[in-house]
Amino acid sequence: MIKSCVIGWPIEHSRSPIIHGYWLKKYDIAGSYERRPVEPNELVEFIRALSEAGYAGCNVTIPHKEAVFRLVRIADDTTRHVGAVNTVYVRDGLAYGTNTDGEGFTRNLLQSVPGYSIPGKRVMVLGAGGASLAIVNALLENHAADILVANRTFERSEQLRQRLGKRVLPIGWDEAADHLVECELLVNTTSLGMTSQPVLDLDLSRLSLDAVVSDIVYTPLRTPLLKVAVDRGNRVVEGLGMLLHQAVRGFALWYGVDPEVTPELYDIVARDIDPGYR
Ligand code: ATR
Repeated sequence: MIKSCVIGWPIEHSRSPIIHGYWLKKYDIAGSYERRPVEPNELVEFIRALSEAGYAGCNVTIPHKEAVFRLVRIADDTTRHVGAVNTVYVRDGLAYGTNTDGEGFTRNLLQSVPGYSIPGKRVMVLGAGGASLAIVNALLENHAADILVANRTFERSEQLRQRLGKRVLPIGWDEAADHLVECELLVNTTSLGMTSQPVLDLDLSRLSLDAVVSDIVYTPLRTPLLKVAVDRGNRVVEGLGMLLHQAVRGFALWYGVDPEVTPELYDIVARDIDPGYR
C-alpha cells in the first residue's frame, strides 16, 4: 500500500484527492491519497517524519510552499528558481522537493490549444505572486520572447525581473490594456475573477483575435475574463487543466505510473466545482 497526501492549512477544499483517487483506481494501484491538515507550527516535524510515517511523498499547498522549499533537498534548477515546493517525494528515506506548477501551466496550454508553440511568443502576465513566478519561469524555459508583467504592486514585478532576468519587463497595472496590442498570450495569475473576489477589469479591445487568453483561476471554471475573450473570438485556456497537469509528476514519482489527464478526469473535477457542469 503506497501512501501519499496533500498538506495545507486549511486543506478541506483541496481537489487533489479526487485527481489522485481517480488515477489510483484507473491504474489499479494499491495506494491511498488523503488530505492532511498541517498547521504551520507542525510543518517541520511533519516533513521530518514523512518517510517514517510511511508516505511516498505529498503535495504541498497554501501556506507551506516556500517553507517546505527550505526543509527538503532540491534536485532541479526549475525549483531552485521558483523557491517553492508543491511536490515532495521520498528517496532512500530522504525527502526531496520539486515544483510542478510551471509544467502544469505549459502542459495545459499545449493540450488545450492544439498545435500551440511557445517559442518566440510575446506574453503578458497579470500578477507577480508565487503562481506568476512559476509560470513566468516556465515560459522563459520554453523560450517565450519578452514577458510583460503587470501587477498592482509594481515592486513585485521588479523583483520578478531581478529573479528571472531581463526578458521580464515590468509595466504599470494601469498600462496593461494599452500594451495588449503587443501580446500573443495573456495570462491571469491574480485571484481576480475568482468566486467572491472582484472581477478582473481589463479592456481587451486592443488584443489581437489570434492571441490566446489563459486564466489560472478555476472557480468558476470559466472566469469573466475568459467569457469576454471567448465572446470576442479569442481562444482560451481554463485554469482547471493546470491543476490536473501539475498533479501528473507527483503521481509518477510516488506510484511509478505516468498518469494521463483525460477528458473524463476533467469532467469529474469540473462537476465537483460546478454541480451544473454538463
Ligand atoms: P499566488 O501564490 O496565488 O500567486 P500571491 O503570491 O498572494 O498568491 O499573489 C496574488 C496575486 O494576485 C498578486 O499578484 C496580487 O497583487 P499584489 O502583489 O499587488 O498583492 C494579485 N491580487 C490579489 N488581489 C488583487 C486585487 N484586488 N487587485 C489586483 N491584484 C490583486
